[in-house]
Amino acid sequence: MRTPLIAANWKMHKTTAQTREFIMEFLPLVKDLSDVEIVIAPPFTSLAVAAKFLKGSNVKLAAQDLFWEDEGAYTGEISGPMLKDVECSYVIVGHSERRQYFAETDETVNRKIGAAQRSGLGVIFCIGETLQEREDGRTLDVLKRQLTEGLRDLSPDGIVIAYEPVWAIGTGRTATPEQAQEAHSFIRQQISEMYGQGVAEGMRILYGGSVKPDNISALMRMPDLDGALVGGASLKPDSFAKIVRYREV
Ligand code: PGA
Repeated sequence: MRTPLIAANWKMHKTTAQTREFIMEFLPLVKDLSDVEIVIAPPFTSLAVAAKFLKGSNVKLAAQDLFWEDEGAYTGEISGPMLKDVECSYVIVGHSERRQYFAETDETVNRKIGAAQRSGLGVIFCIGETLQEREDGRTLDVLKRQLTEGLRDLSPDGIVIAYEPVWAIGTGRTATPEQAQEAHSFIRQQISEMYGQGVAEGMRILYGGSVKPDNISALMRMPDLDGALVGGASLKPDSFAKIVRYREV
């Protein structure tokens, strides 16, 4: 069985003080849970403080991005070994905002995933189609390209896929559970073709895009949905705790 994973992507939100405040409030709300993996991805500047306050808890730490070299003259960049140093377990790679605003391509995503694996970090690898691509009937082609190019020559070790339709991110417009299931089952089939059925059956595929306390349980009932990557609704402890406790909603 695949253990569900629910991850908070805070994007460019929260100072160190706000990070500490969130964690102090959030941990008691979820401390009894052991059947779901909980992950928080704060901005780089909050990673060290988050690591300190999450220590010994059932909540893991993720970064939102990394660079593909381990060290060197790359002003402004952060490497896999640096993320390990601040106790990150995961790193998000290929988020659509990185692709859209920072010119990330399937090739740079591929290099970053390789770097994360070299450092022993789990990877939350984001893929998803734009509205235009969906309307043109190209959704499955886009997902296939992002998967094959993003994972080219890499092992499936530590990979978690996040399917995030770009038109659903931060828009309040969620994919229906059926739309998400269709994409997720296609993704699993592609993983099976790339790595074999055993790997495909064990791989977690998260959904992301306007996930909230009131839509998470219907999404999680879909057979190929193994968790969520949550932006806006992860910024408040009670809202994110409700999402993590989706079985009780
Ligand atoms: P959202 O963001 O939940 O605010 O739509 C999700 C994401 O971008 O990971």
